[in-house]
Amino acid sequence: MSEEVLLEARDIEKAYVGSRVLKSVSVALKPGTITALIGPNGAGKTTLFDIIAGFVQADSGVVRYRGEDITRKPAFLRACRGIVKTFQIPHEFGGLSVLDNLLVAGSDQIGERFPASLWSRRATHEQECANTETACGILEFLGLLASRDVMAQTLSAGEKKLLELARALMLAPRLLMLDEPLAGVPLSVGEQILEHLVNIGAQGKTLLIVEHNLEAVMRVADWVYVLVDGELLASGPPSEVQRNEKVQTAYLGRA
Ligand SMILES: Nc1ncnc2c1ncn2[C@@H]1O[C@H](COP(=O)(O)OP(=O)(O)O)[C@@H](O)[C@H]1O
Ligand SMILES: [Mg+2]
Repeated sequence: MSEEVLLEARDIEKAYVGSRVLKSVSVALKPGTITALIGPNGAGKTTLFDIIAGFVQADSGVVRYRGEDITRKPAFLRACRGIVKTFQIPHEFGGLSVLDNLLVAGSDQIGERFPASLWSRRATHEQECANTETACGILEFLGLLASRDVMAQTLSAGEKKLLELARALMLAPRLLMLDEPLAGVPLSVGEQILEHLVNIGAQGKTLLIVEHNLEAVMRVADWVYVLVDGELLASGPPSEVQRNEKVQTAYLGRA
């Protein structure tokens, strides 16, 4: 397997009721980088994103992850391998505390495995402590630790976005995927989220961000793909893409 590419989607085609939404689209994500997928509304960004995450099946084309063909693998199995997506609209459990929201998201909970929980109370306890420590570390990293006992439903929209990010980090993603992480949050929270994303990237994780806020993406991305009407119009480093005339006409002009 090539160490140069963590995930590759090649020649992806998708049509809905006869309308081609993705036309032979190929993207490659390099490990430890932030890749942004931009484009006007209806360009097919979320569809491609969901095909990579495993929530939507492509009509044709291949998705490879760490050298393995995962085209037919369902989303929950991809998540086990480290491909984790956050939802555009946060899916928190409103009636649970912030900390408990992370603990239910946490992977490998021995206590949840029925037979093990019967004879392995010590192991269960140790696992719970380890999960709690991991969760508190993530909350601290995202500036949410002081709110750990607060009911999630009382959080602001921005804090709910951060909680969604925290829950995704509990799954120890290798590839973290975010669809419009800045949508619906005030500018100041958006800045915070961007800073967190850069810090998460600096920890060696690979990120794929679908975002409408172009200026923001250009600041944090290492590589940008521009999708217009289901076709890849351009790709490259942000500064290069920004100067691309086709991109300016097709996307920036309309944004
Ligand atoms: N489940 C679906 N059924 C039918 N059409 C869909 C479905 N999902 C997306 N589409 C259509 O595919 C096109 C691309 O949508 P989408 O991937 O959501 O674009 P973007 O995220 O870039 O705004 C749009 O025309 C949209 O209406
Ligand atoms: Mg979308």
